[in-house]
Amino acid sequence: MSGTIVYEKTDGIARLTLNRPAVLNALNLEMRDELWDALRAFRDDPDARVLVLRGAGKAFSAGADISDFGTAPSLAEARRARRERDVWDLLLHLPKPTIAAVHGYALGAGCEMSLLCDLRIAADDASFGLPEVSLGYIPSAGGTQTLPRTISPGVAMQMILSGDPISAEEAYRLRLVHRVVPRDELDAAADGWARTLAERDPRALAYALEAVVRGLDLSLADGLALEAALGNRLRAEGAA
Ligand code: COA
Repeated sequence: MSGTIVYEKTDGIARLTLNRPAVLNALNLEMRDELWDALRAFRDDPDARVLVLRGAGKAFSAGADISDFGTAPSLAEARRARRERDVWDLLLHLPKPTIAAVHGYALGAGCEMSLLCDLRIAADDASFGLPEVSLGYIPSAGGTQTLPRTISPGVAMQMILSGDPISAEEAYRLRLVHRVVPRDELDAAADGWARTLAERDPRALAYALEAVVRGLDLSLADGLALEAALGNRLRAEGAA
């Protein structure tokens, strides 16, 4: 590992820190690969129960590393790498809760990473935005799908088409984040939530996450069937 990601674990709480502070934690290919490895380590470690995702330095992440654009050996190669190591799908489908603790800029893939987490706490200096369209691209870490499923689809459309960032306060008003705290209280607030979740039955958490995340893609009838099946499985395994 070259250190673009710092992964630590104490008392069942894993802390994954995006660590390229000199470029506001812009996501390059190396960081993406290290994120993949760290997320798999978290997923496969039975002692790691909750993940807190955060950024080192002044920002959560200013998005994809612009200096990487166009540097993949070929378009086909870039697509193959994305298919084989779908880091965003991995983050979305982790069977354990994830909390994004966001301060400073959360732009592009930075904003999208937070949307792939289950819970979001923002510091009062945070700002969220998807500037891709204004750069001639479209969001590519799930933002066109996760944002309209998180906030009102019409407001999501406006954010995606305009590229204009919103403040933490506005993000809370729109329910993009669950809570806003002063910057110097962000880590403690995220740790507090993480500690509470780490005390929950991990199987109940895993099934609840699966019911919600998979259920969002289903009709109500199929979602209710999924919930019943997961509840039955949990009871059969001996939980409450
Ligand atoms: N990719 C690569 N480098 C980035 C970056 C990104 N997405 N975002 C910031 N950086 C780098 C800057 O180039 C600068 O590097 P330098 O010190 O070597 O010049 C450093 O991070 C600090 O950024 P700077 O622009 O000086 O900070 P700022 O506070 O004035 O502005 C932003 C912050 C986020 C408004 C501005 O950096 C920006 O617009 N970044 C691009 C955001 C973006 O479009 N992301 C989505 C890509 S799809």
